[in-house]
Amino acid sequence: MSELDIRKAVKERYSKVATSQADCCGGGARGDDSSLVTLGGDVPVEASEVNAGCGSPLLLVTPKEGDVVLDLGSGGGIDVFRASQIVGEKGRALGVDATPEMVWRARETKSKYGDRYANVEFRLGEIERLPIESGAVDYVISNCVINLSPDKPAVFRESFRVLKAGGVFAVADITLPEEIPESARNDMDSWSACIAGALVDSEYRKLLEDAGFQEVQIEHVSDSNIGKYPFSYNSSHVKARKPY
Ligand SMILES: C[S@@+](CC[C@H](N)C(=O)[O-])C[C@H]1O[C@@H](n2cnc3c(N)ncnc32)[C@H](O)[C@@H]1O
Repeated sequence: MSELDIRKAVKERYSKVATSQADCCGGGARGDDSSLVTLGGDVPVEASEVNAGCGSPLLLVTPKEGDVVLDLGSGGGIDVFRASQIVGEKGRALGVDATPEMVWRARETKSKYGDRYANVEFRLGEIERLPIESGAVDYVISNCVINLSPDKPAVFRESFRVLKAGGVFAVADITLPEEIPESARNDMDSWSACIAGALVDSEYRKLLEDAGFQEVQIEHVSDSNIGKYPFSYNSSHVKARKPY
């Protein structure tokens, strides 16, 4: 499978999710525990309708008023809208997504609420080449997206670049307890369903450390899960810090 094949399959799937023609993730990747999926709180109903996450990255961190939060693969914007209320009018909540239909949908939601989400911005772009200036962000969050990337080292390097010194990377993602067969890796449908592109825990940690991150923590929030796939995977929370 080439990088281009993966990007095409992922965009195709999520453009359908954005226009409500398809499910987001297969195989129960969102986890069976509904507490994984949502933090509750005050978010536009239009954003919760396209919620395609597998955890709650904002449970891992405590942004304060005035902070800048960046969501990688923001989809319909659920975590961006949530973050916007936490950081307040002096802060900013930014989302980047590669699927135009997702970005349009999230922007449309924002525009329905007038000035309420004035500190929110959705940008079209790839998380491997973030359209964000260096050292601009206090928190990089993400919800069930990094597993979809065909170039994960680039995602971690870019996250490191855009964070301020001392900034925190906090994501929900699917991870694997051990390597899966090559044939499973090459199944495009399971890749775009958030499963086959997932990193093994030890590789996740190594790639974050290679990018310069410290204090890497990986916590499984759902038990190892065998659903429609013949191997185990976890919904996980991953946290790391850019050194001061
Ligand atoms: C499973 S959905 C999660 C959406 C959102 N984070 C949520 O919790 O509802 C994955 C999202 O990541 C986006 N995405 C996948 N690969 C990407 C990449 N390489 N760069 C930017 N966005 C990407 C997709 O377009 C889709 O909106």
